[in-house]
Amino acid sequence: MASSEGNKLWGGRFVGSIDPVMERFNASISYDKRMWQADIKGSKAYAKALQKTGLVTQNEMEQILTGLDKVHDEWSRGEFRIKDGDEDIHTANERRLKEIIGDPAGKLHTGRSRNDQVATDSRLWLRDAISTLKKQTLQLINTMVERAAVEIDILFPGYTHTQRAQPIRWSHWILSHAVALSRDVERLEEIRKRTNVMPLGSGAIAGNPFNIDRELLRKELNFDSISINSLDATGQRDFVAEFLFWGSMCLTHLSKMAEDLILYNTKEFSFITLSDAYSTGSSLMPQKKNADSLELIRSKAGRVFGRCAGFLMTLKGLPSTYNKDLQEDKEAMFDTFDTVHAVLQVTTGVISTLEINQKAMEEALSPDMLATDLAYYLVRKGMPFREAHSCAGKAVYIAESKKIPLNQLTVEDLHTVSPLFDCDICTVWDYSSSVEQYSAPGGTAKCSVTAQIEHFRSWLQTQHQ
Ligand code: ARG
Repeated sequence: MASSEGNKLWGGRFVGSIDPVMERFNASISYDKRMWQADIKGSKAYAKALQKTGLVTQNEMEQILTGLDKVHDEWSRGEFRIKDGDEDIHTANERRLKEIIGDPAGKLHTGRSRNDQVATDSRLWLRDAISTLKKQTLQLINTMVERAAVEIDILFPGYTHTQRAQPIRWSHWILSHAVALSRDVERLEEIRKRTNVMPLGSGAIAGNPFNIDRELLRKELNFDSISINSLDATGQRDFVAEFLFWGSMCLTHLSKMAEDLILYNTKEFSFITLSDAYSTGSSLMPQKKNADSLELIRSKAGRVFGRCAGFLMTLKGLPSTYNKDLQEDKEAMFDTFDTVHAVLQVTTGVISTLEINQKAMEEALSPDMLATDLAYYLVRKGMPFREAHSCAGKAVYIAESKKIPLNQLTVEDLHTVSPLFDCDICTVWDYSSSVEQYSAPGGTAKCSVTAQIEHFRSWLQTQHQ
């Protein structure tokens, strides 16, 4: 290659070398090297398909495969040296292959483009990343479900508008977050299906001119199917955008849970005590034990959604097929994976080690939270709910005016509101029997929460691949 062409794989039509600032601006090797394994896998499959077309001999194919195995070993031993001019992982691996085996390396890219190569590598990488995240999410759900099973008898206040609403089981609260996460697992499975489609054999834009056996490539790379249109295959990154949305949604779920736990962990609530392993101290105030783990879990949804919004802006209005803008997908994808990966690990740790303060939880229950039950008492005696609601409201008013708790009202007091009140009213003032009313599926009664636990246990069984 003449020196004026520069030292580039695409150097043929260029004169002189690239501005070093542009070279750095253009390069993606610093981050896309993470896909080294996927890139080698794709190239090995492609070498086999080329041999089948007759464009590469058996011997050349073997040299390419052995050479790529050496490149693989160098990466896995941490010995691969990235050189100036290695623009991305695709050029770096091919450059190294050429150094190892010489001329046959030049045949590997026949009919292939970095456009179908990068789309293939990204899908292979994301496919593995999805499996890792799925496993971790399942592990977290499992931790939550088993905790819910052990602590099923603990009652505490349920809140709406951050105001005491009705007594619920602590396990019911835990499981509410597990349900959201189980939908995240299902969404991840859906994304996996659309990710696991093979673009290889699409070339730069028009397809492959050498009648490459794409079915052979699909089998080699374990894709579910092959892309049906080469323009779409090389120019689409909706699978990345979906993944970024997935991360945003999953972390939004976890941020909600973290926010509840941050409140429950305050001295004022004291419902839970975060393990020291997931707390930090203050450099100034010696008494402080901060819930940094939970605050970071809460924060990361913002970061990941930023990646999602940013990349969608990059995609919006792009012309068809490959444009260099698409290179921006990688950092968003890697950062989202790393962030969600860390959050899932820390959340599992937090949930499995936090301690609950049963006494504080139960002491936080107050008779006013049974006002709805007072209305239901009247409903059970035949009063229409609207009327019963109003009567219970009047009872609350009387108790407040007398500055006594709702359950201290006498039957006489209650009679001024409705003659239906009787001495069996004392059965209403019991938190356990209050929660036990909610026995319809999905409610907070023990039988219903047990059913939720059983549902999750069998669902988890079906999820383990
Ligand atoms: N590094 C590029 C990317 O990540 C690879 C594809 C480059 N293709 C091209 N025609 N310049 O998107």
